[in-house]
Amino acid sequence: MIASSPQKNLKKVARVLPAAALCLFALPASAANILTNGTFDTAKDPWWGNASTTSDPPADQTIAVEEGKLCSTQVSGGKNPWDVVLGVSGVPLVAGKYYRIAFSASADVERTIKYKTGLGEAPYSDYFAQTITISPTPKDFEVTYKNVHEDPMGQFQFQIGKTAGKVCIDNVVIEEVAEPVLPAYMTPSITTKPFKAYEKVVKMGTAVDTPIFLSSPKHNQIVENEFSAITPANSMKMNLIQPTQGTFDFVDTDALYSWAQAKGLEFRGHPLVWHTQAPSWIQDDTTLTRDQMIGLMNAHIDGLMGHYPNLPYWDVVNEAIEFSNGVPAFRSTFWHDRIGDDFVDLAFQRARMADADTKLFYNDYNIEQAGEAKSDRVFQMIQDMKMRGIPIDGVGLQSHYFVTPDGGLSGVPNIDAIRANIKRYADIGVEVHITECDFRLGKPLDDSKLALHTKFFSELLQACIDAENCTHFTVWGLSDIDSWVPSTFPDYDYAHLFDSAFAPRPAYQEMNKIFAKYNPDDGTLLGGTGGTGGGTGGTGTAGSGSGAVAETKDSGCSVARASGVDATGAGLALLALLGLSLVSRRAAKPD
Ligand code: XIL
Repeated sequence: MIASSPQKNLKKVARVLPAAALCLFALPASAANILTNGTFDTAKDPWWGNASTTSDPPADQTIAVEEGKLCSTQVSGGKNPWDVVLGVSGVPLVAGKYYRIAFSASADVERTIKYKTGLGEAPYSDYFAQTITISPTPKDFEVTYKNVHEDPMGQFQFQIGKTAGKVCIDNVVIEEVAEPVLPAYMTPSITTKPFKAYEKVVKMGTAVDTPIFLSSPKHNQIVENEFSAITPANSMKMNLIQPTQGTFDFVDTDALYSWAQAKGLEFRGHPLVWHTQAPSWIQDDTTLTRDQMIGLMNAHIDGLMGHYPNLPYWDVVNEAIEFSNGVPAFRSTFWHDRIGDDFVDLAFQRARMADADTKLFYNDYNIEQAGEAKSDRVFQMIQDMKMRGIPIDGVGLQSHYFVTPDGGLSGVPNIDAIRANIKRYADIGVEVHITECDFRLGKPLDDSKLALHTKFFSELLQACIDAENCTHFTVWGLSDIDSWVPSTFPDYDYAHLFDSAFAPRPAYQEMNKIFAKYNPDDGTLLGGTGGTGGGTGGTGTAGSGSGAVAETKDSGCSVARASGVDATGAGLALLALLGLSLVSRRAAKPD
């Protein structure tokens, strides 16, 4: 028991008060704790510990009430976070309701644990999960999330993981609350216009992950008001959407999709065929023949595209090329190795059969710059697919960039080479989207690293704007608060346009300054007397190649699509006032 915890004391008082008195104390929107025991004053029931005896090495665990807290002590063992668990079953969760989860947690040494609501039975899916860092000083955690799963027998769990030691929890409350209300949104843009106002110039998108979407109205408010498009960061991946063969779980993606529809946001399908985040039922079954694998791939494509029939874009194949002995080649994966090189062709053909209207994309990283081996190999693959009549409309340049912790520049973009790359795709009639842009900075953060973050986000945006065949610029996550970076690249952080308090970074403002050079009504460049050329490839003639991009409004547009005048915001305002916003250096983009 933590004597100083006000929440604990409140609970103790609450339990001796009659029901009528309780109502006086309760917030209007607040109901009772749906857990039967969250205070552990004497008993641990109905909580249980669950150490996996089948993990390698097998985990050991004892759980007991210690000083009024529920503690899990582990000597050794476990392999995965879920191998040692503290949980409670039979938690009634109603779809569409908002729940406040609150608890206090501590550990004998600093460590991360995960807490989650989820399905109580295999194939155990998370409804809502957060990873937290805890230490010897008990810390209170609190979140309100929207539950989208109907489950009268749900579970609430702490996944403690493999690190030996002691973890204690206390004052666990899950209660239904009213939908959080937020005040009207005001863009932080220095131009007073959000990104979204400029969607005729380029559509800005962001990846949205399920936990932040379900728990942060502030996050959703920024996404809704600043962006034109979203990509599900994880929920459409095969392990989550087809966890067992033939059984699709669309619940999380449906929630995101219906929200996107309600808010008028474009929704990108991502990804159909990928080797990562795939379920074990397909990955581990080495007996599957080529024909069976093709059947499973087709069923997955049909299942997803059939359920979401009106999406404008799909990443059909993700990351199929990688270096092997220094040479880029088809990556050895369960898809490739069991089907053969033609799995890419087959996936695109099936996707076209499943949806005749959507645009089909190949998506990959380190393919942004012309003249680099992997990038050239992917271009060659796509050019070859086009020539053979394989239905492919676009290429997604993921665009994950970085500055190393010691300030090294091996991961910063070469914008000229990117312009040249986008241009060569235009020449073969292939649309280009920036699909996953982030710019992670090695720790510690300093001004020069941040300056590079600002410079390259804006230069990349300008390169996309200048290219007629580049219509979308999607960032891989809105803010540092739900970033995939620190867990994937532990020495890095600060990769996004908004920080962990949702404050915009300078890159966001610089990008807005770039957008301010254009007329939001038609996407044309305001004012000016001529372009600067915008670097190698920036003056290319989209649509002049063998297969012009079909959907460019200004087909055969041969004017230089250069960055034009480098005007300040004040200068632009003056030009606009003088009615000088006449010269369009750039044709309007298709919607
Ligand atoms: C990442 C997600 O953002 C993470 O949350 C997840 O743990 C791993 O995958 N290329 C892709 C994306 O195509 O789907 C990946 O997303 C990042 C790399």
